[in-house]
Amino acid sequence: MSQRSVAVLGATGSVGEATLAVARNHPDRLRVSVLAAQGTRPARLAELAREFRPDRVIVASADRAAALGGELPDGVRLTCGDQALLDAVGTGDIDLVVTAIVGAAGLQPAAAALAAGADLALANKEAMVAAGPVLRRLAAASGSSILPIDSEHAAIHQALRAGRPEEVRRLVLTASGGPFLDRDPATLETATPAEATAHPTWNMGAKISVDSATLMNKGLELIEASYLFDVAGSRIDIVIHPQSLVHSIVEFRCGNGIAQISANDMQYPIQYALSYPERWSRPAGSASTHLTELLQAASRLEFRQVDRGLFPAPSLARAALARGGGAPAALNAANEIAVDAFLSGGVPFTAIVPVVAGVLERHDRQAGGGDPETVDEALAWDSWGRSHAREVLAPFGG
Ligand SMILES: NC(=O)c1ccc[n+]([C@@H]2O[C@H](COP(=O)([O-])OP(=O)(O)OC[C@H]3O[C@@H](n4cnc5c(N)ncnc54)[C@H](OP(=O)(O)O)[C@@H]3O)[C@@H](O)[C@H]2O)c1
Repeated sequence: MSQRSVAVLGATGSVGEATLAVARNHPDRLRVSVLAAQGTRPARLAELAREFRPDRVIVASADRAAALGGELPDGVRLTCGDQALLDAVGTGDIDLVVTAIVGAAGLQPAAAALAAGADLALANKEAMVAAGPVLRRLAAASGSSILPIDSEHAAIHQALRAGRPEEVRRLVLTASGGPFLDRDPATLETATPAEATAHPTWNMGAKISVDSATLMNKGLELIEASYLFDVAGSRIDIVIHPQSLVHSIVEFRCGNGIAQISANDMQYPIQYALSYPERWSRPAGSASTHLTELLQAASRLEFRQVDRGLFPAPSLARAALARGGGAPAALNAANEIAVDAFLSGGVPFTAIVPVVAGVLERHDRQAGGGDPETVDEALAWDSWGRSHAREVLAPFGG
């Protein structure tokens, strides 16, 4: 049995910790060679370094590196900054890079990993939204694979194994609906960050939790799915499924559909990505119930249409995908700025989606332009989206 060398970017986050739980359970197959994080949780990062003994630990800045001090075990090299991250994943020594950084900050490391021929286990959907076609071209050129970690995309990846691409009729992404699915819309103006991040079925980082509350997460996932699986946005539907047990569905032209079911624990899609094309024994700590028991415990499985008036974010993302050019990158960047402003108390929850819509309106008035051809072109659209989002935010108090 061969052991794969793995770099975990965003090691101290929700997906990073779940990835390390998988690695902990499969030490014969996975060797953690690199742990990277921003460095805001130095004690936890040091603890992980003592447990996994990676070759390198990387944090975002010299200050963060100083905070780790002498906490790392002997033999673990500590480096810092963006270039250190690119060097670590771009050496060709790493077999698999798990990218669980938040936001478009994950784009350059993802591109460097693919260019160096490493497979990419992708949680960082924002990188795919900003530059999906570029990342796919890099993977094709080096012969590496992009394996989705998002549970919906892992579900589609599994279901697609049941047929040929030309036999696919449509993809159905399921959405939990987030914490505000049934909340009185009149009260959303005063929704707090604590309420917006209290997700009913998943325990996730703050940014993706807010994206789930606005349903922008599903919009980003629609763009991600289109780029990953080469399926037009018009053939991707979104359906609300509050139990989060059916993780997505592929419908084939013959009328048969394949839905994927598992517990709502991120170790399942992460392990699928890390083990593909094999299937390993079930994640540690997961309930040993049969899937039928899981379904019975839910007592019923609901599927509802998205209320587009209440939740316009998926429609905005669909329009940005159809528009192409820099629109997806600008949408993502504007959303990152607006979510940050909400989480830091600068603007109300109800400002987030209008800010993104305002930036897209400005984008629509720009001269055309094709899809970004390079990471730098995608990053230029990212910067454009950020600066326009700051202007659009101002009247909301941001
Ligand atoms: N959470 C989920 O269940 C889930 C599911 C599907 C997809 N995703 C996607 O996975 C990504 C991570 O989400 P999450 O919920 O795990 O986030 P999270 O809990 O907030 O963790 C983010 C991680 O990234 C690190 N980080 C942030 N910025 C960085 C930078 N510039 N350089 C290096 N490291 C950086 C953080 O380091 P510090 O700890 O030092 O701050 C932390 O380790 C997001 O793109 C999200 O959309 C998440």
